Amino acid sequence: MNVADTERAATGLRNAGYELTASAEAADVVLFNTCSVRERAEQKVFTRIGEVRHQAQHSGKRGKPLIGVMGCVAQLEGDAIFQNTPAVDLIIGTRATDRIPSLIERARGGEADVIDLGERQEGEFWEVSPAERRSPYVAFVPIIEGCNKFCSFCIVPYSRGREKSRSALEIVAEVQRLRSFGYKEVHLIGQNVNSYRPLSPEGLERYAGATAFSRLLRAVADTGMQRIKFTTSFPRDFHPDIVAALEECPNLCDWIHLPVQSGSNRILKAMRRGHSTDDYLRRVDAIRGSKRRLSLTSDIIVGFPGESEDDFEDTMRLVRACEYDGLFIFKYSKRTGTPAAMLADAVPEGEKTARFLALEELQSSLQNKIYNDYTGRTVSVLVERESARSSEDMTGHSTCHKVVNFRSQQTAPGEIVDVLISQAKPYSLYGELMSGRAA
Ligand code: 5AD
Ligand code: SF4
Repeated sequence: MNVADTERAATGLRNAGYELTASAEAADVVLFNTCSVRERAEQKVFTRIGEVRHQAQHSGKRGKPLIGVMGCVAQLEGDAIFQNTPAVDLIIGTRATDRIPSLIERARGGEADVIDLGERQEGEFWEVSPAERRSPYVAFVPIIEGCNKFCSFCIVPYSRGREKSRSALEIVAEVQRLRSFGYKEVHLIGQNVNSYRPLSPEGLERYAGATAFSRLLRAVADTGMQRIKFTTSFPRDFHPDIVAALEECPNLCDWIHLPVQSGSNRILKAMRRGHSTDDYLRRVDAIRGSKRRLSLTSDIIVGFPGESEDDFEDTMRLVRACEYDGLFIFKYSKRTGTPAAMLADAVPEGEKTARFLALEELQSSLQNKIYNDYTGRTVSVLVERESARSSEDMTGHSTCHKVVNFRSQQTAPGEIVDVLISQAKPYSLYGELMSGRAA
């Protein structure tokens, strides 16, 4: 989502006549896009601002660059940033992305402490120019922003506001355009993609489905885009019709990211997740019961306030039962302003680390088995670049979102090829290019 926001900001700036430069030293304006989901991410930005200020002072360049903070930290801290970090000239909230050029103009015109924490306005543009996209083959397409779930540990509902879905007509038109530009893969993105609820059914009329999201999946599949991925799915809103859509449409990729956060019902309740372990496991059964082998990944927080040894054991048990293809593990980080920040019973840092390591070790052994099962099988890979490890190898992602490296100098980035897997590594697969190439 942050990458998509940066691309969107860059599109608006270029349209307004700005040139983009990759080096802070050459810039007249430096914008920091920020994340506040955990404390460490938040601290990083202030260190970086200090470095850029320091460089500017010692570079001999006349005039200091204007410094702006955008994204979640800007939204949450607002004008307190001006007091704590006087080097900052501009504060741009999460829904002010499209107004950045006019905010910069105000600051350049001499206005001090320019700040915009307002809502998006009618007619503001979601579309990103291909020139600003990070990859010429894989594009992020936001379909919903914000979150209404208010999990007790999470800052996102406060930093990104309420759920707002984009019109299906617009999404489909963007995917069609991306296809005509030569993109091979789109990621439909949002804090909770399957909570997608557009104001009107425009663009979905011809597509059946139990929910607006599963109808959207069918509509996007109908554009003929070769590979379609989507993330993140929220367990409570995960309707089995999503699995049905994946079975009907081969260009919907075989990967589902479905964060569980904890395997203990007591902790799930304190997290206000709105699902129990049984609810979650029913979703997993629907995914595992599919005729397609669907890859499943998840997020887990260890050390939530009050998490006991038994609660943690429940999490270990659930992870064993789910056999995830991949797992992102986080140590609980207290976020001021969230309900969980008021809870007593913090888990000591040493204990959090011990649980993190134990869960990581368990996942790594389970994942090893899953990755080994791929040997002898063929996967379809979108080639991204030469491998960092060896100039004789290329690297890319499979439809099931695993990193695949393979021996071949004859393939070029952007090609989709079939790779026969010969070896499983801890976080990647290795194989050989099949002689008859795919699409
Ligand atoms: N502490 C630790 N992890 C968190 N996440 C969200 N908020 C917190 C927090 N306060 C994790 C969740 C979420 C992922 C994007 O970040 O697991 O799914
Ligand atoms: Fe945060 Fe929960 Fe919303 Fe995900 S669903 S963004 S964890 S509040």
